[in-house]
Amino acid sequence: MSRTPTGYTRLQIALHWIIFLLIAVQFLFHDGMEDVWRAVMRDTYAGPTAGAILHVAVGLAVLALVVIRLGVKLKRGSPRLPENEPALLKTTASVTHWVLYGLMVVVPVSGAVAWFTVNEGAGEAHEVLKTLLMLVVLLHVAGALVQRFVLKSDVMTRMLRPSP
Ligand code: HEM
Ligand code: HEM
Repeated sequence: MSRTPTGYTRLQIALHWIIFLLIAVQFLFHDGMEDVWRAVMRDTYAGPTAGAILHVAVGLAVLALVVIRLGVKLKRGSPRLPENEPALLKTTASVTHWVLYGLMVVVPVSGAVAWFTVNEGAGEAHEVLKTLLMLVVLLHVAGALVQRFVLKSDVMTRMLRPSP
């Protein structure tokens, strides 16, 4: 990483919003996976349904895209929050971002361990971790809205408009 960038590239922005959409799909349409998992746990499993296949495919796509995204972040870096903002806010934002990256890895990994090795404990971990992901995303969205409407900074715009 040569110097701190002033914004996000087209690729970083595309990955942020594509991953957001895929995670939204996982939270909105998980009933199919839950039904199949219940059957697996009760030994009445009769093969995967379209809902379960969709959940696995979309979840693994999130994992693959997050690995690419982390690679880009480690190579290029991320823009800093505006200089004039309190240090505590900047630290909270940075910690939140790293926690989000961590959860975007461990949520699909725990799901994959549960599914591919039929591991009940990993299934329970997956359930707890996805709730944590949802809570941290809510904090993150609140932060983005505060930046936009209270602090009136350009932070929201930079996740919409690419910088070179
Ligand atoms: C970012 C990716 C993922 C998200 C956000 C996500 C989210 C969810 C949600 C919301 C549920 C319903 C839990 C409940 O309320 O009972 C669930 C269940 C499940 N998911 Fe995922 N999932 C992801 C990736 C994956 C992957 C990649 C796999 C497997 C390869 C997987 C396997 C499972 C299984 C087996 C269940 C049923 C067990 C349980 O309830 O924990 N998930 N997931
Ligand atoms: C699943 C949902 C989401 C996840 C997992 C997520 C994750 C992340 C992560 C990890 C970053 C840090 C990027 C980096 O510096 O490497 C980021 C940045 C950002 N996100 Fe999200 N995000 C989500 C949804 C949203 C939503 C709904 C909004 C808007 C309301 C939003 C607005 C932003 C903004 C404005 C930034 C740039 C922050 C900055 O430049 O300091 N995100 N997001």
